[in-house]
This record gives sequence, structure tokens and C-alpha cells, in this order.
Amino acid sequence: MRRKFIVGNWKMHGLREGGAALASDLAGRMLGAGDVAFDMLLCPPATLIHTVVQAVSDAPVSVGGQDCHGKDSGAHTGDIGAPMLADAGCRYVIVGHSERRQGHGELSGEVKAKAAAAHRAGLIAIVCVGETEAERDAGRALDVIARMVDESMPDGATAANTVVAYEPVWAIGTGRTPTPADVGAMHSMIRRRLATLVDQPDAVRILYGGSVKPDNAASLLHIDDVDGALVGGASLKADEFWAIAETCR
Ligand code: PGA
Repeated sequence: MRRKFIVGNWKMHGLREGGAALASDLAGRMLGAGDVAFDMLLCPPATLIHTVVQAVSDAPVSVGGQDCHGKDSGAHTGDIGAPMLADAGCRYVIVGHSERRQGHGELSGEVKAKAAAAHRAGLIAIVCVGETEAERDAGRALDVIARMVDESMPDGATAANTVVAYEPVWAIGTGRTPTPADVGAMHSMIRRRLATLVDQPDAVRILYGGSVKPDNAASLLHIDDVDGALVGGASLKADEFWAIAETCR
């Protein structure tokens, strides 16, 4: 049985005061709620990892990075090694987000190296894949994602060390989402694909991301093979993020 997983990707948002307040608010809600039907992860910008780790230390809330380098250390100005994230208190790291693939020219081979680096550091990699609007319109979405999954998954990936996030590029930050039928078809294709790449493909959590909001969360999170959400904009407001999480029952 896969437990639902609600992940907040804060992207390049937040200073210490607001970040601490948001993380503390969510930690308090998790502690107050007791038994919940989901796991929660917050991925703040690197400058806030320490602050957020401290703010959630008593609560069942994990912390993750938004990216890591494919090498463990070295002369890579501005980059962060996976061992550094682990040392700072992270359990997870997002790799291959479309804002990295598109904004920084990252190809799947590099994403695969980053996921492998995450595993070496004992982190769980959240490997993101997503098609562009042109690829969807051309009827190529399933093929594009199959290939991205094949090329981005590192050797030795398991259900314990890897999560997949399907995030259509055209749905991120736009308020648009694919139909539940399209999301379901994509997630079940990804799971079939994982069968050739990982042990126990049925245990791998596959998240949907792209304009998840309180008003569409229930319909997205109750699709077969959707095991949680990777949430950007709505993760910056405690009420909205919590409302999304609470749709997991
Ligand atoms: P969004 O971002 O929820 O703001 O669309 C999702 C993401 O990029 O992870």
C-alpha cells in the first residue's frame, strides 16, 4: 500500500522569518492532526534548509533540497552536493525539475547522474519528468515521458530510494491541468515503464505536479497510480497546502 506523499516545492521564494513561520505552522498542524493519511515534505531554497529543519524538528515533516550536483564535491561554484544536503538535515532532493531542465539546459543524462549522487548520499531522489505543450499537442506526451523516465532513472533505483514526479511543463504555474483521464493514463504508463527499471515498481510513489490547488486536489489525488502531489505556488500558503494534504483520506 503506497502512502500518499504531499511535497511543497518553495522554489526561489522565502526569507528566514517567513520560511520559519510557514514551516512551524505546518509542523504544528501535523502534530495537532495526529494520525494522518499522508507524508509531508518541504523543499525550501538552500538558504532556508537549516531554518526549516529546525522548525519541523519535533514534527513528522521531512525536508528536501530542490537540486543537487551529479558529483559529490568539487570545483562547481554555486552548486550543492548531495552529501551537503544530507549533512544539513535533508532526506530528499528533487532532481530534473522542468525549471532546471529548461532554465539550465539539464538533459536526462545529467538528471540520472544527480539521482545517483542523491542515492550515494543516502537521499531519496524525486525524479521529475514532464512534456511541453507542443509535445502534448503533437500527441507525443506518452512517448516523451517514457523516454525521459528510461533516461533519467539511475541504476540501483528502488521504491525506497526513488520517487517519480510527473509534471507537465504547461501545467506548472499556469492554473491549467491535464484531465484526470490523461493523468491516469500517464501514471499507469510510468508504472509499467518502471517495471523494467526498478525492483518493486508497484511500491514506487508517483506524484502529480502542476497547478495542484485545494479545489482540484481531490480529483487529482484520487486517480489510480497518483500517490501524491508536488505543489509549487500553493505550498507557500499554509492554509492552501494543508487543504491539499487533507484531501488524502
Ligand atoms: P505549481 O508548481 O504548483 O506552482 O504549478 C509545481 C512545481 O513546479 O513543482
